[in-house]
Amino acid sequence: MTDISEKEEAFLVSVFTEYKVKNALDCACGTGPHLYLLSKLGVRVCGSDYSDAMLKACEENLSQEGIDVITKQADFRYLEEVWVEKFDAVLCMTQSIAHLHTHEDLVTAFKSMRERLNDGGILIITQGTTHFTLQDRFRFDLVVNNQDFSRVFSRDIGEGFQTINILDIYHSDKVSKMETNSVHIKIILDDEYKSLLTEAGFSQINIYGGYDMSPYDKESSWKLIVVAER
Ligand SMILES: C[S@@+](CC[C@H](N)C(=O)[O-])C[C@H]1O[C@@H](n2cnc3c(N)ncnc32)[C@H](O)[C@@H]1O
Repeated sequence: MTDISEKEEAFLVSVFTEYKVKNALDCACGTGPHLYLLSKLGVRVCGSDYSDAMLKACEENLSQEGIDVITKQADFRYLEEVWVEKFDAVLCMTQSIAHLHTHEDLVTAFKSMRERLNDGGILIITQGTTHFTLQDRFRFDLVVNNQDFSRVFSRDIGEGFQTINILDIYHSDKVSKMETNSVHIKIILDDEYKSLLTEAGFSQINIYGGYDMSPYDKESSWKLIVVAER
């Protein structure tokens, strides 16, 4: 399971405190890093993901840690088909929303996420794709380089989309192997988020450029973080 950085944790604590978040749905939970962190922080969390394989890995990861979380298979365009309850926060983290490629699908997903929020609830979206990181000089990037594990991204950017080729290298005494993976995702930036989320009915849309909640800056931001209020 990917570790959540201390900066991201501090950001989530700060936003959850400000909005008095007691329960949350991670609607693209993947292998469960945010479910793990939030349950440790005392938030009642539920998780869903489109992929059965991701959910299986998530359930294994959480049970190894002794954490009991309700998880369900769900497409985040149609959350109402599996979740009847409402939440103080819905999370869609680490570029998950960019797996949708059309305007119609994105508005459908944002409406579905909004419908799962209590009044005053918030949607949180995070991604590492920004005006700044899309520059050609970051096309080839060593994004993780730990003692046991390194991850390299090489990006091909086209008309409104990017293909991220991911090379994972495991290099410990116990494991020595490489894995490759590719994702083809839509490039969604600040103005498009504002327009999509407004169309989906969100009222206040805040866009930050980092976990320190600095304003999003096209010239220098490494992250694009959305906190949208129902
Ligand atoms: C980059 S991973 C991020 C996982 C996790 N949020 C994290 O931060 O590690 C993207 C996730 O989005 C999920 N996903 C993609 N399209 C989806 C959809 N339509 N509905 C729900 N989950 C989806 C994928 O299965 C995958 O687990």
